[in-house]
This record gives sequence, structure tokens and C-alpha cells, in this order.
Amino acid sequence: MADFLNRDPRNPQFWDERFEKNFTPWDKGNVPAELKAFMQARLQITSQVTQQTLNTLIPGCGNGYEAAFLAQAGWPVVAIDFSPAAVRSAQAAIGEWGKHVIEADFFVYTPTQPLGLIYERAFFCALPPAMRADIVKRWAALLPTGALLAGYFFFDDAPDASIKGPPFTVHSAAFRELMSPYFDLLEERAVSDSIPVFAGKEKWQVWRRL
Ligand SMILES: C[S@@+](CC[C@H](N)C(=O)[O-])C[C@H]1O[C@@H](n2cnc3c(N)ncnc32)[C@H](O)[C@@H]1O
Repeated sequence: MADFLNRDPRNPQFWDERFEKNFTPWDKGNVPAELKAFMQARLQITSQVTQQTLNTLIPGCGNGYEAAFLAQAGWPVVAIDFSPAAVRSAQAAIGEWGKHVIEADFFVYTPTQPLGLIYERAFFCALPPAMRADIVKRWAALLPTGALLAGYFFFDDAPDASIKGPPFTVHSAAFRELMSPYFDLLEERAVSDSIPVFAGKEKWQVWRRL
């Protein structure tokens, strides 16, 4: 394993080092199945009405495969990452769709259009537990009533679950408690195409802003 200078995932240099050294064990390399199903179902359900797509933000996008996938399907999508090396890596990985990826900090970035969806994968679990309440508050501030937060969440309900990370697991009841002032849980499903680092502990969830 590569030797790293920066050990603080709150710092963009932490992620720069890992992208630069090509150490990205969280990277799936493709678009996860539940996101594809979510998008396809949404397009079918809404095919009778004018609004077929959701204005989407992908915080902490890494290589941004999902941004390319959504953009190709005609969804308005902006993917952000505060690590310059991650943004360069995404632009190399997804070619022309890299124009949807911008360097920005999730806690500062303000979308130009109201959002319909925030897509989550390996961003919440990448940051230390002390930041969880702020992440949830920022999701809530970014999403208008009725808008959705959908994606993958990394759970461990064992009483002696490790608090080491990233990735950091969260207890499912603690996560529900954090979310409940702002969001309703609409859907939850097991995940069949996890990569090894998340296998058995990952769930697909869809939350609606209250
Ligand atoms: C574990 S990686 C996950 C990348 C991608 N979502 C994926 O599924 O492969 C976490 C990413 O979040 C980014 N990140 C962490 N804190 C951030 C912040 N405050 N604003 C924007 N990006 C952030 C990191 O630079 C890193 O690329």
C-alpha cells in the first residue's frame, strides 16, 4: 500500500494524494445498478408529463461515472468534488462528460437551479462521524420540499462496529434519527453489485425532503 502524508479526509489534499497515487479502493469503475433502475423507473413513470428528469447534484463525485450516465440520458447534472486531482481524474475517466464535473466544496457550493435530486455514493461515509449532522443539514438546505436524496449508504448495526475509516459505517437507527427532522424514507433495498469494500453493508435508499 502507498504511504500517505495526509490522514485527514476533511482536507482536499487527503483525496488528492490518493487519486494521484491511484489508490481509490472505493471506486466502482461503473454505474451502480440501483441508480440505473431508479432513473429508468423515473423516466417511465413521468413519461406522460413534461418534467421527465431531475436537476441533479452529485457531491464528492470522484471519477463521476454517474454524472456521465445521467448527462448522456439528458438529465441536468452537476457533479462536484473539492479535490483538484479527483476532478482531473473524472475528466480523464469520462471524457466529454467531464464538463459536468466542477471543483467545489459541498458545504459552500450553491446550485444555479433548484435541485430535484442529490445522488449519494461514498461521500457521507468518506467523512468523519463528527461531520454527519452538518452533511445532513447541508443536504436539507440544498433540497426544496419534495426533492429527493437517493443513493448508497454504508451501515453496520453491530454493537462493536468499527469507528475506523474512511469509509465510516453508520448505525442505521442513528442515521434515521439524524435524517428524520428533514427527510422521509421512501425506499430501501439491499445492494447486489457492491464492490468488496462495501459488500454486505451497503443499502440503496431514497429519501424525500419534508
Ligand atoms: C470515497 S470518495 C467517493 C467518490 C465517488 N462518490 C465514488 O463513489 O467513487 C469521496 C470523495 O468525496 C470528495 N469530498 C470529500 N469532502 C468533500 C467536500 N467537502 N466537498 C466536495 N467533495 C468532497 C473527495 O475528494 C472524494 O473524491
